[in-house]
Amino acid sequence: MERVNQSVVSEFVFLGLTNSWSIQLLLFVFSSMFFVASMMGNSLIVFTVASDPHLHSPMYFLLANLSFIDLGVSSVSSPKMLYDLFRKHKVISFTGCVTQIFFIHVIGGVEMVLLIAMAFDRYVAICKPLHYLTIMSPRTCILFSVTAWVVGLMHSLIQLAFVVNLPFCGPNVLDSFYCDLPRFIKLACIDTNQLEFMVTVNSGFISVGSFFILIISYIVIIISVQKHSSGGSSKALSTLSAHITVVFLFFGPLIFFYTWPSPSTHLDKFLAIFDAVITPFLNPIIYTFRNQEMKVAMKRVCRQLVSYRKTS
Ligand SMILES: *[C@@H]1O[C@H](CO)[C@@H](O)[C@H](O)[C@H]1NC(C)=O
Repeated sequence: MERVNQSVVSEFVFLGLTNSWSIQLLLFVFSSMFFVASMMGNSLIVFTVASDPHLHSPMYFLLANLSFIDLGVSSVSSPKMLYDLFRKHKVISFTGCVTQIFFIHVIGGVEMVLLIAMAFDRYVAICKPLHYLTIMSPRTCILFSVTAWVVGLMHSLIQLAFVVNLPFCGPNVLDSFYCDLPRFIKLACIDTNQLEFMVTVNSGFISVGSFFILIISYIVIIISVQKHSSGGSSKALSTLSAHITVVFLFFGPLIFFYTWPSPSTHLDKFLAIFDAVITPFLNPIIYTFRNQEMKVAMKRVCRQLVSYRKTS
């Protein structure tokens, strides 16, 4: 009851990305293309891995988990952004805003743990090939996916616990196209320095930490690829460089949001488009379409779908 009395803010207003009509049109066209493509690509991966027994191995299970979470990444802020792009008055309810923050952080946490699990999987496959099946047992895989969800949920709930009861007394304009903590906190009518510090420590630490874990694991993998193999190393290197590209594209913007002291530039809004729209589209491309086994399986699934449609 107390919060209702304190908070007169029941909705937030987004300023959106830009007022220029031509940039809006450009954003609309590109974002909706990326949105549709990543929803289709990631659903196809989840479906293919689930339905093809050839792909019932740790690497593909993790990939399917990543695609599943990427469906969430695509859905959490882009549909609302697309819907709002041409509207003058872009509003989101208080509950909608908090829900968005909740899911952004669950999904972000899950995605980070899964990326680390996938790097670990490649490390074991390349550096300890004889022990691959014992180390990456079905139990390990399930452990990784459970850990990912537990970490994501905990990370998000801890931060929400700090902010859900904040008093909002009037200011409700967010210079953004989605709700997230750095700007949300700034609107509260108390001194928020400590809260901002908490967000920097929590979200900043988890993103910088995972980023370094990933970079170090890829460096270790690359070094051992070069030491051990001669023939297959260029193929492995090209795969690894693709993974590393994803890591930079995904973490670059995040680290910028959560560790930069004041979210006042326009740069972070445009960087946010990367994580909202482009990374969920890139993941299937980078992890899948360069992979022969996966391409064959996808063709098989598509053929089955087509012939199923014809006969029914
Ligand atoms: C995620 O990984 C687990 C463990 O390997 C697997 O059982 C599950 O089917 C995967 N989930 C999806 C959506 O592919």
